Amino acid sequence: MKRKSSIRLGVNIDHVATLRQVRGGTTSYPSVYQMVLKSIKGGAEQITIHLREDRRHIQLHDLQLLAKKCPVDLNLEMAATPEMVKIANKYKPEWVCLVPEKRAELTTEGGLNVIKGFRKMAPMIEKLQMRGIEISLFIAPDLEQVEASYKIGADAVEFHTGHWVLYKGLKKEKEWKRMIVAANRAHELGMRVHAGHGLDYSHAKLIKKLPHLREVNIGHALICYGLENGLEAAVKKMTTIIRG
Ligand code: PXP
Repeated sequence: MKRKSSIRLGVNIDHVATLRQVRGGTTSYPSVYQMVLKSIKGGAEQITIHLREDRRHIQLHDLQLLAKKCPVDLNLEMAATPEMVKIANKYKPEWVCLVPEKRAELTTEGGLNVIKGFRKMAPMIEKLQMRGIEISLFIAPDLEQVEASYKIGADAVEFHTGHWVLYKGLKKEKEWKRMIVAANRAHELGMRVHAGHGLDYSHAKLIKKLPHLREVNIGHALICYGLENGLEAAVKKMTTIIRG
């Protein structure tokens, strides 16, 4: 059953796969699918995965499984490359979020440059939308990028919140104001406003005040909170087995 709320939560499950891939994917745990089900039990209305070119966490088999069995919307983050467009068109997630991708980065470090990539991305977006996939573009909260996202036909923009989360003082305030201006313009142009990157509990309390915000995608903090809350029980079970 797909539920509706004013701001929907997409849980980014990549780092469950990161832990699995640390052992080269030889363990059955942690199970991406089981963690998807737990996230949905907790209230996630969307599952977000990033199939990176270097396959450092999510693998093609994760996408294959979730495309078939994910009980809520699937949002596939991906680079704008012909290979990824082919994959997305084959597995048909509800959403594709186009992101910039560099091999050496620890995580998605910046937003897309839609202006610079316009001619390359426009036919890819058209192809994906013709398949019934909705498109969001991961951009900095920048007016020119918002305008370009509209011109290219995006259904949504996802503002990169990673810098705002790390900034302090005046810089943080300035970035927040920039985000408000960009959100208002995106809404005026008829696009959905999404946000994501680096969001934790304290920044979730702040970001929900962003005008027109319809969706947040949160991963790293949630997987960390899951570990912090669950390790005691896991160790308890192990000590019972060892000493029992
Ligand atoms: N949204 C996008 C487009 C991302 O690339 C990421 C990181 O994969 C996230 C949201 C989630 O960021 P975090 O893991 O820092 O919560």
